[in-house]
Amino acid sequence: MRPAKALLLLSALLHGGYARPAASCEKAIYLQTNAVEGNSIVALLIGSDGVLGAGAVYPTMGKGGSRLDVMTMQPASPDALLSQSAIAVVGNNLFVINAMSNTASMFRINTSNATDLHYINSSPITGGDFPNTIAVSAKHKLVCVATTGKANGVSCATFDRNGLGTFDSLRPLGLTQSTPPTGPPNTVSQVSFTEDEEFLAVTVKADPPTNKPGFVAVYQVRGKKLAREAVRSSPADTAILFGFNQIPRTDKFIVTDPSIGAAILSLDTQSCDVTTVQPINITGQLATCWSVISPATGTAFVSDGAVNRLVEISVPKGDIVSVTDLSANGDPGLFDMVASGEFVYALSPATSAVTVVNAKSKKMVQHVTLGSLGIGAYAQGMALFEG
Ligand SMILES: *[C@@H]1O[C@H](CO)[C@@H](O)[C@H](O)[C@H]1NC(C)=O
Ligand SMILES: *[C@@H]1O[C@H](CO)[C@@H](O)[C@H](O)[C@H]1NC(C)=O
Ligand SMILES: *[C@@H]1O[C@H](CO)[C@@H](O)[C@H](O)[C@H]1NC(C)=O
Repeated sequence: MRPAKALLLLSALLHGGYARPAASCEKAIYLQTNAVEGNSIVALLIGSDGVLGAGAVYPTMGKGGSRLDVMTMQPASPDALLSQSAIAVVGNNLFVINAMSNTASMFRINTSNATDLHYINSSPITGGDFPNTIAVSAKHKLVCVATTGKANGVSCATFDRNGLGTFDSLRPLGLTQSTPPTGPPNTVSQVSFTEDEEFLAVTVKADPPTNKPGFVAVYQVRGKKLAREAVRSSPADTAILFGFNQIPRTDKFIVTDPSIGAAILSLDTQSCDVTTVQPINITGQLATCWSVISPATGTAFVSDGAVNRLVEISVPKGDIVSVTDLSANGDPGLFDMVASGEFVYALSPATSAVTVVNAKSKKMVQHVTLGSLGIGAYAQGMALFEG
């Protein structure tokens, strides 16, 4: 360092100019509007008190989409995408699917200001219809999406700082579906890499009218590529397998299932089989579909699209440890969630709202409505950047 520059730096440090961290700009949550006329990411700052602050909106250059009601064959919402993990953040990269464009888009997050996103590119998911969930491996530089329309399956692309590469040919899941799909039954719920990033798990909901069981498909990563074939399991006592999270440092997962509530599943990393360790009956549940594990409590929180409450579950044991009734805020139910520090952030698309709950005290600390930023009944997906 040249003396003049060193002096300048010293002076800045003495005057508090350089060293002060921009704490309030380093954490954010991201939602997608999933609007049919043009999808957008909504980025919201997380303040040092956990409360959400200023937001910014970024077009994804793709179109959102919605499931069709099985009776009327008209677009139905909320739960437009029928999924968990419609947005993924790895490092300072953000990825999102565009259901009716059959594309995925990539953004770079400004690490000095997490609500400042830079669009990089979009890549077509050739051969697949209605992508609804996305997972990213930093280790293998691999992005995998699942599609749940007429052409349903799993497709992957590499990525680097220049953007997303070309998606490979579809690994079919074999569902008999339409584009847009009808559901929730008989649709893909979530893709996720395991903690070691050596496996990709996909949950698929049962189709009770045709007696097709729900299943988990597990693909191995081999030589930085996703295997073409998966091992499929239909874990006992589960049916409508929905959102899931790996329980840190175990081969176990919490999965939601609106047919019972939730379950603890175990992955055998030798055979790739997935089995039920503990079914979890949640009394009074109607549509338990989303899950998150809080780093502050080490417990899971599951949300219900039709009952406005958070149910806290011990992991890996699977005991219900608390139920937080949030009905006083007027939302009909809760969808996608993320957990950061002591807080859980949960989306209610029907009321354009995000509820912030302290995971330890179980107190609601904020209920913010985001209609002015384009969040509405079609919104789905939530991801987190923590700097
Ligand atoms: C990132 O954000 C900081 C703080 O707002 C800003 O000074 C900087 O120019 C931004 N970087 C880019 C590449 O936009
Ligand atoms: C962070 O980025 C947002 C969106 O571009 C912008 O509105 C805001 O002013 C930025 N904050 C700072 C501190 O630069
Ligand atoms: C869950 O409920 C079902 C049906 O009510 C019952 O058959 C089953 O034994 C219960 N399982 C547990 C683990 O409580």
